[in-house]
Amino acid sequence: MADFLLLIHPAIAVAIIFPFIGIVVNRAWQTRSRRLETLAGGKSRIPPIVGQEHVQIGFWLAGSVFGISLIGLAYPIFSRIINKQVWTQNPPQVLSIVLLFAVTIAAYVFLHFSRQNYLRAILAILSGAGIVFLGFQDGIFRRDNEWYSSHFYYGITATLLMIFSVAILPNIYQDRSNRWRYTHVILNSLALLLFIGQGLTGVRDLLEIPPSAQKPYIKQLYMENCFKQSCTIKGESNQK
Ligand code: HEM
Ligand code: HEM
Repeated sequence: MADFLLLIHPAIAVAIIFPFIGIVVNRAWQTRSRRLETLAGGKSRIPPIVGQEHVQIGFWLAGSVFGISLIGLAYPIFSRIINKQVWTQNPPQVLSIVLLFAVTIAAYVFLHFSRQNYLRAILAILSGAGIVFLGFQDGIFRRDNEWYSSHFYYGITATLLMIFSVAILPNIYQDRSNRWRYTHVILNSLALLLFIGQGLTGVRDLLEIPPSAQKPYIKQLYMENCFKQSCTIKGESNQK
């Protein structure tokens, strides 16, 4: 069961998110090519619908990245709560984590429907801060000592960029100087690199997590043969 729950997150990434990324990037390229061709005075053969398609699938991409990050965070957080019986020892902590999940999701949902700029900014900050706070709960393996190849830091940054894309959407259309458009392109080109990084670091992390039946033996072997000051295996550590 634990193995099945662990696989839900990578399975959604592979079957849903990466295909979305392909469509969104393809339509992004067409949107830009069409805009530049029309601007140069020529007649573009790319249909005008590509911009709308980019945004429609973009919404699905942003929503599913947000959701998959929450699932990726929920798995280690709740595994720890259940394994270490945190709810009997510290119920307020469990309650505040559940509340944090609820507020984060609610802020993101309301962001989709709000129209005023200041409200969008507040809701985006709220759901972004929620993701970051959840990310720093106990139980999450962040790979702090190798942050430059960390699935956690790449994933959180990509999620924040998706929230930002949804938040600035009306500004892209309103701004005649194209400043918001260029900001969007630069930040989301970075998001694309981070998504590729998520593919690489995700499969590496999956390879590092032993199946639940083997876990106690591998942990024992690893901890007994580790002579460093502090040794960590995904989610566990032995401070010497
Ligand atoms: C990997 C992710 C993404 C990439 C690489 C990307 C890139 C781009 C590019 C290159 C353009 C065309 C800019 C131009 O005209 O010069 C664009 C336009 C746009 N993008 Fe994205 N984008 C991404 C995700 C998103 C998301 C998640 C949203 C929001 C839901 C979004 C909303 C928009 C909007 C509103 C436009 C303007 C469309 C138009 O002119 O009709 N994008 N994006
Ligand atoms: C858009 C793509 C993805 C995003 C935004 C994302 C995000 C996250 C986040 C935020 C976490 C929690 C922090 C952590 O433990 O590192 C996580 C965990 C994880 N992800 Fe992903 N991920 C993505 C794709 C993938 C893929 C493609 C795979 C593997 C094929 C994968 C495998 C994992 C694994 C194994 C964990 C660890 C769960 C645990 O700690 O027990 N992820 N992901």
